[in-house]
Amino acid sequence: MVVCSAPGKLILFGEHAVVFGEPALSMAVNLRIRTEAEVSSKFSVNDQDLQKQKHSYVYECIENVWKGEPLSLRIDSGIPSAAGMGSSAAVTVSTLGALLRLKGEFDPVLIAKKGFEIEYEVQGSASPIDTTTTTHGSGILVAREARNNLLWVIRKDGKEWYLHECDLPEMKLVVGDTGIRSRTGPLVAKVRSYVEESSFARDVVSEIGQITLQAVEALSDGDFVSVGALMIRNHNLLSVLGVGHPKLDNLVRVASDLSYGAKTTGAGGGGSMIALTDDPLEVAKVIRENGGKAYIVKYEKRGVIVEC
Ligand code: MEV
Repeated sequence: MVVCSAPGKLILFGEHAVVFGEPALSMAVNLRIRTEAEVSSKFSVNDQDLQKQKHSYVYECIENVWKGEPLSLRIDSGIPSAAGMGSSAAVTVSTLGALLRLKGEFDPVLIAKKGFEIEYEVQGSASPIDTTTTTHGSGILVAREARNNLLWVIRKDGKEWYLHECDLPEMKLVVGDTGIRSRTGPLVAKVRSYVEESSFARDVVSEIGQITLQAVEALSDGDFVSVGALMIRNHNLLSVLGVGHPKLDNLVRVASDLSYGAKTTGAGGGGSMIALTDDPLEVAKVIRENGGKAYIVKYEKRGVIVEC
C-alpha cells in the first residue's frame, strides 16, 4: 500500500490571464488531499466502482500512467471542492504520485507534466499553475521567460509557461469561501470566447499580467500596502472579464476594510476570495458574518509527498 498527499493552492495574482500565457503568482497552503492506493480485485474509489464521469480526474490518472492490476483507491480531502483552492489539481497530483510510487517511478517533473495534461483534458483548457503549485509546494511564479529558480517549462498549443519557485514573505492570508460552487472549465471557456472576440478583453488580460509582475516586486520589498492596492485592481479586472459574483464582491468589500487588500482567488464565478491582513481573526469574523466560510491558511513548503 502507498499513501501520497498534495497541498491546496491559492492564486495570489494572475488567474485566467495565465491561461493565455501571462505571468501569475500562486502559493501552496496547509490543506491537503491524501490518496491511498493498493492492489485489489477491482478498480474502486472510496469503496465505489471507478466511474469515468464521477471520478474524472482519478480515472484519467489511471488511464495515463497505470497499466497494472486493479487498484483500490481511498481519497481523503481536506480541501473544499470547487472553491478555488486547487482541490482538482491536488487530487490529480496525489493520485499520480501514488500510482507512480507503486510503479517505482515517483518523479515530481513527470507528475507536474502529466498532472497538467490531465487537468487540461478534463477541464477542456488550463494553465499549469495549479498542478505545478500542488506538485512543488511553496510559492510559484509563472513567467513568459526563464528567470532565477526555474523549475520546468510546460508547452501546449503554441504557448509556453516557465514555472519558477518564488520566495514569498510571511503573509497573513484569510480565504473566504462564498459556498457557491463553480467549475473552472466553463469559466475558462467563457473568458476565452470574450478574449477571442474583443481587443478590450485582451488588454485586460495583459494588464493583469503586468499587475502580477508589479506585485512580485512589491512582495519582495515587503510593501503590503502596494500589494493590497494591486489585489483590488486585479479583482476588479477579473469582474470585467465576467468571472465575478455579487457574493464574492461583497466578501472582498467587507474584508478590504480590515485588510491591505482582497481579491477573487481561482476561477471565480462564486468560489473564494483572499484577504491580506494583519488581523486574520477579525477578517475571518467579518467573512462569517457576511455568509462566507473563513479559513486562515498558512504557506506550505511541501508539495506532493510519499507518506508511506
Ligand atoms: C484556476 O485555479 C486558475 C485559472 O487560471 C485556470 C488555470 O490557470 O488553469 C482560472
